[in-house]
Amino acid sequence: MTKLSSKDVLRSDQFSKAEIDLIMETARTYEAAVDAGEVLDVMKGKVLSTLFYEPSTRTRLSFETAMLRLGGDVITVAEAKSSSAAKGESLHDTIKTVEGYADVIVLRHPQIGAAKEAAEATDQPVLNAGDGAGQHPTQSLLDLYTILKEQKKVDGLTIALAGDLRNGRTVHSLALLLANYDVRFLFVAPDALRMPTEIVEQVKAAGIDVQETENLSQAICEADVLYMTRIQRERFEDPAEYERLKDAFILRNDALASAKPSLTIMHPLPRVNEIDPDVDAFAGAAYFRQSANGVPIRMALLALVSGRA
Ligand code: CP
Repeated sequence: MTKLSSKDVLRSDQFSKAEIDLIMETARTYEAAVDAGEVLDVMKGKVLSTLFYEPSTRTRLSFETAMLRLGGDVITVAEAKSSSAAKGESLHDTIKTVEGYADVIVLRHPQIGAAKEAAEATDQPVLNAGDGAGQHPTQSLLDLYTILKEQKKVDGLTIALAGDLRNGRTVHSLALLLANYDVRFLFVAPDALRMPTEIVEQVKAAGIDVQETENLSQAICEADVLYMTRIQRERFEDPAEYERLKDAFILRNDALASAKPSLTIMHPLPRVNEIDPDVDAFAGAAYFRQSANGVPIRMALLALVSGRA
């Protein structure tokens, strides 16, 4: 049993450095086993419930693939309207019901704090798959895993997070997770979409050098990792404001002439206009490798919180 056994995964800043290292090492072990064609039974007899009240392709399917790769079973609610939430059932009552069917619960929900509320309703492990504009901790772990694979290190890197830093839960979680390392941050956003002050302050308090800028060209020149994000249309109350900001940053091939040859380009996906498809041929364009890394990381998390790793 590790310290992660029976734990919820709610925020990226809940982990100690030792726990992060354990998750990375466990993911590497499972990735190697799957690559070698091994059929695993680590989660045999266990059932994962995925409850997705917001759209998802990568997070839901990679969690479900992870459980299947570990020999477990999956039950799913892929959209709120197909569940009794549409009839007015509370999140508390849904979770109390699902704990009678499943051993681990993965929840995506539009409200900040929903995963914490779910975790308070059950003793079973709850994993936050995105709570509104709050956090997406399992994404940040796969993002870290991707940086380690692509750059072979984290310490010493300049990491630029660009786009909708106000509403993007992936960048909230990633900034806090990387604050465990010796990195330098460039937070690149239009003024209206800056990183929330509390996250900037928390990262700075960890001793991290942070520069906030609206200059994507500068970030492309200086970065070792450029993490682009989508402008989160679903979080805007004013459609005109979304239209004003939606194409704030578009990464095109010609801009990469000034980048380091070793630049890693990441994006949690889905992308809309932020990265021109021509960029996909750039050697450091890692976003599809990044999404594939969701499987070993989520295998590690499922096994660890279940006390099976
Ligand atoms: N990165 C991510 O959360 O993608 P999905 O919304 O497709 O799950």
